[in-house]
Amino acid sequence: MLTRRSLAALAGATALALSFAGSAIAQDKIVLKFSHVVAPDTPKGKGAAKFEELAELYTNGAVDVEVYPNSQLYKDKEEMEALQLGAVQMLAPSLAKFGPLGVQDFEVFDLPFIFADYEALRKVTQGDVGKMLLAKLEDKGITGLAYWDNGFKIMSANSPLKSPDDFLGLKMRIQSSKVIEAYMNKLGAVPQVMAFSEVYQALQTGVVDGTENPPSNMYTQKMNEVQKHATVSNHGYLGYAVIVNKQFWDGLPADVRSGLEKAMAEATEYANSIAKEDNDNALAAMKAAGTTEFYEPTAEERAAWAEALAPVHEEMAERIGAETIAAVKGAIGQ
Ligand code: LMR
Repeated sequence: MLTRRSLAALAGATALALSFAGSAIAQDKIVLKFSHVVAPDTPKGKGAAKFEELAELYTNGAVDVEVYPNSQLYKDKEEMEALQLGAVQMLAPSLAKFGPLGVQDFEVFDLPFIFADYEALRKVTQGDVGKMLLAKLEDKGITGLAYWDNGFKIMSANSPLKSPDDFLGLKMRIQSSKVIEAYMNKLGAVPQVMAFSEVYQALQTGVVDGTENPPSNMYTQKMNEVQKHATVSNHGYLGYAVIVNKQFWDGLPADVRSGLEKAMAEATEYANSIAKEDNDNALAAMKAAGTTEFYEPTAEERAAWAEALAPVHEEMAERIGAETIAAVKGAIGQ
């Protein structure tokens, strides 16, 4: 007969066995940490959440994807280092942030007015040129899996930005791209590289006067609350390369990797299908909020910007690689 004491011992042993089983199950899972710097409610944030859901589904729970948004784990520069060290397995940095890694070709995407619209851009990102560019990451211990869209950038500051002259002397926060630095210099602005997580406060305290970003980023970081003016210039594109630590990726069991590839293909389609609408909605929401005056430039004003910035294409050819620029322009028929 079981005494009260033996019952208690049995219960304890059962709990212990269960907790061992639990931790064994937890240990069996492959953990994939996906770190990014934007809000969950953005094209990238939603793409990451979709990947998490599908990855767990298509690997029958073998992979546990943990998404860390809003620079919770790492800021821009640190996240690249963390990926290379294997502290995180997946990122989706903006294409403007690969220069410090030693892959400058991606800065081709930052050339002003190079893509007329998403359709032109897709001819690059969904084709051979896009694949060729991702392959350049392999040497750095990184595998490029996909391109995710955000959108076209608008300029903001506390003063109106109608003509190129309006930028004279303005301190503008930029990403780490030398192409962006070059075009801000061309406008007579003073570009300042800064991590995305620091932009709101820098704008609020006047450390910088203005910045550029697609509406979805501007809105979800509340930058419109600290910028009085913005011009819907669509002067450049901001999108992402989804990348993984190569050693991690190559070391996955083949069936797990193919499940993740399927999840990535579908998450990519999803992210790219919502990006434009997300940006349109963010712009409309900021207009409705009324804290920023949005200016839609005329065709002549846009042409004046394009003309002022055109020399940057030539000046940056050596840095980006003339072949890369020619390949991209060839793909979009320029
Ligand atoms: C920025 O730093 O402005 C963007 O790259 C942020 C992002 O990831 O969209």
